Amino acid sequence: SQTVTILGLESSCDDTAAAVVRQTVSARAEILSSVVFGQTELHSQFGGVVPELAARAHAEKLDQCVRLALQNAALSLTDLDAIAVTAGPGLIGGVLSGVMCAKGLSAACGLPLIGINHLAGHALTPRLTDGIDFPYLMLLVSGGHCQYLIARGSDEFVRLGGTIDDAPGEAFDKTARLLGLAQPGGPSVQAEARNGDPNRYRFPRPLLDRQDCNLSFSGLKTALMRQRDQIVTQKGGLTRQDRADLCAGFQQAVVDVLAEKTRRALRLYLQEAPTRPTVAVAGGVAANTEIRMALRLVCAEAGAEFIAPPLDLCTDNAAMIAYAGIERFRSGARDGMDMTARPRWPL
Ligand code: KG4
Ligand code: ZN
Repeated sequence: SQTVTILGLESSCDDTAAAVVRQTVSARAEILSSVVFGQTELHSQFGGVVPELAARAHAEKLDQCVRLALQNAALSLTDLDAIAVTAGPGLIGGVLSGVMCAKGLSAACGLPLIGINHLAGHALTPRLTDGIDFPYLMLLVSGGHCQYLIARGSDEFVRLGGTIDDAPGEAFDKTARLLGLAQPGGPSVQAEARNGDPNRYRFPRPLLDRQDCNLSFSGLKTALMRQRDQIVTQKGGLTRQDRADLCAGFQQAVVDVLAEKTRRALRLYLQEAPTRPTVAVAGGVAANTEIRMALRLVCAEAGAEFIAPPLDLCTDNAAMIAYAGIERFRSGARDGMDMTARPRWPL
């Protein structure tokens, strides 16, 4: 049929989400509803996501989430063409909750089931928000991921490189924890950095000596901890200014690494010689204004168009899963009741 309407489910990390997206052939897809229940509060006292708690919360919230998404879209299950669900990668308990819920809905209503790779959901988001065509270069930066991809088709991604240890969001969160700032760390570190001197403390820029697109962020966290301990030993504690300067130095290191590696990824990508190169970002860290500014500049230098989706579609959501479902649905993809939840699933 010409118009495809899909319900998407997402529960692979610490957000329970459901959304309805509709697309009439060759027109821009439309988000009819998008509901996200976060779990920040649930995990706040533990300093990180507790998988057991997350899985239980997903299982408890999914039904309500689906009901709300349908209600906000003013649709019922019978108006849908298919159910799309994140089938991995992620915390297995959460992914399982989503897959079970989707299977139940699919069986009850006789709707096709489509398993979506969470990373593909992020990587296809610029098509949902800006309607861009393949191919494009994608930088995925979040609390769990960091990689450069060339998106050639809805199921065809070429990985140019990525982090060999931590994701940058993880580094922001750890930095916040080390300095006693609120979680999630990204926004609070960015806010502190605004009053800081990025040159007072110099942090490492790992792997810049290597020509590839791989990145590393775990050394940065160690360097920050060492610098903090040194200040504490010398002066007995951190002043407000020390904290701001540490945040600014840390953030500048992340900005410099991402800018330089994006330059390299772009150079590789340009060998494919697209006439109008496009670079897109997604993931929670893409919310960082300094990072966005630096990437915009790198793209301008190379004559590439830069696309950054709105914040709520950069972070985990189900609209991206429903939209990826539409693309997969149109290409004929269907999954059966034997579909599994996959903790690891490279693109
Ligand atoms: O994509 P996301 O919501 O979840 C996954 O990790 O999949 O990303 C969350 C991450 C957190 O680590 C958070 O600290 C980071 O994105 N983040 C930021 C900013 N806002 C969120 N990092 C840097 N600057 C920000 N403004
Ligand atoms: Zn994600």
